[in-house]
Amino acid sequence: MTYLVTGGAGFIGANFVKYILKKHADCKVIILDKLTYAGNLGTIKDELSDPRVFFYKGDICNQELVENIFMNHTIDTVVNFAAESHVDRSIEDPGIFLKTNILGTQTLMDVAKARWMTGKDDKGYPLFAEGKKFLQVSTDEVYGALERDIPEGIPLKLEDKELEKVLNKRSVPPKTFGSGFFTEETPLNPRSPYATSKTAADMLARAYGETYHFPVNVTRCSNNYGPYHFPEKLIPLIIKNILEGKKLPVYGDGRQVRDWLYVEDHCKGIDLVINGGRQGEAYNIGGFNEELNINIVKQTIDIIREMVFEEKKVKPEYRNFVTVTYDECSYSLITFVQDRLGHDARYAIDPAKTVKELGFYPETPFQDGIRKTVQWYLDNQWWVNEVASGDYRKYYEEMYGNR
Ligand code: NAD
Ligand code: TYD
Repeated sequence: MTYLVTGGAGFIGANFVKYILKKHADCKVIILDKLTYAGNLGTIKDELSDPRVFFYKGDICNQELVENIFMNHTIDTVVNFAAESHVDRSIEDPGIFLKTNILGTQTLMDVAKARWMTGKDDKGYPLFAEGKKFLQVSTDEVYGALERDIPEGIPLKLEDKELEKVLNKRSVPPKTFGSGFFTEETPLNPRSPYATSKTAADMLARAYGETYHFPVNVTRCSNNYGPYHFPEKLIPLIIKNILEGKKLPVYGDGRQVRDWLYVEDHCKGIDLVINGGRQGEAYNIGGFNEELNINIVKQTIDIIREMVFEEKKVKPEYRNFVTVTYDECSYSLITFVQDRLGHDARYAIDPAKTVKELGFYPETPFQDGIRKTVQWYLDNQWWVNEVASGDYRKYYEEMYGNR
């Protein structure tokens, strides 16, 4: 199997490359990445020396380049992660989001369609070579926002009682902050420029499935977290800031709800959809972990306090980069800042279809996933230093000042 992984030097793309190389000894992985501020070759440095991996620096909107890649390699599966992915940046400057996320997806699909087509059926629909698939990585943000009508949260009830029983064995059983959930049937209703660009790509992918019988699936996942996450998104930003004793900017009242999915569980879900997803279908991939932003921040502070200090002193192995003191490492780091424009109140994925059809199960409870994530950041400061320079720093300073 030869995969073309676009955006493979970014957060989820890189995790997927690592996952797939480990899982399939005989696969070949072609990475196409523009290396924007969010893409980092350091993230895939070990993979770049693997003879099964080929890297192309370039833009998914560059049709000639994409055609060359398809000419040089027999691509079986395209997994399109490449995107501008940060909502706050899309509010500042939507243009590049529309270009990369919509036109880039169209370019990739047009080239794949042309290369994979073997003829036409008697109704004029294209026929495609066996075993080809285009997977468009979409997002739960295409559904818009849900009501947070249960402000304090209640235990999550599922139709699938077996699954409910399994989930209730987690050290903290899942809860929900509202009565509504996103299913694949929920009408798409994006509310930010980022979400709108992803919705256009999502709909275009499914339109290619309908119009051309193009072999496509769409996955819509919730908020990922884990290793190699760029520190402009909530969880890596607060981990970085806590370790440095900097303020933790919480937007508005911090009572927005997200469903958190450990990135490796997402990669497993994508792999299941590649191998078993029905032609043209969309699949939700969620973590069964709804939580208020403010609680995510507080839990991360608690865990860092526990993992970094011994008898109120920073453990010796972390002393050269952890600058926060035991007393400072507390909720007093939290600072409520101006809310995001059009801030979506709640996202909550119902992945029942993916569970039922493909056997998907997000096995990492948040309490384990956040520990693994913090440990990864503690062990990989070189990576944090590498990405925390250049555009990112400039952007960060413009947004929040130099604090
Ligand atoms: P990311 O920003 O960390 O990485 C994006 C990667 O795409 C980077 O390596 C960047 O260099 C590359 N890229 C950007 N523009 C490109 C272009 N024009 N051509 C080629 N490469 C380009 O993003 P991520 O968090 O890894 O997200 C990956 C995908 O998953 C995106 O499509 C995103 O919309 C989707 N998604 C992410 C989340 C999340 O929680 N991170 C949730 C739902 C969906
Ligand atoms: P983010 O990680 O940007 O993901 P998304 O906007 O795709 O959900 O943000 C997650 C939540 O955290 C979102 O409700 C916005 C909020 N947030 C903050 O409160 N402070 C921050 O500094 C950031 C980056 C996000």
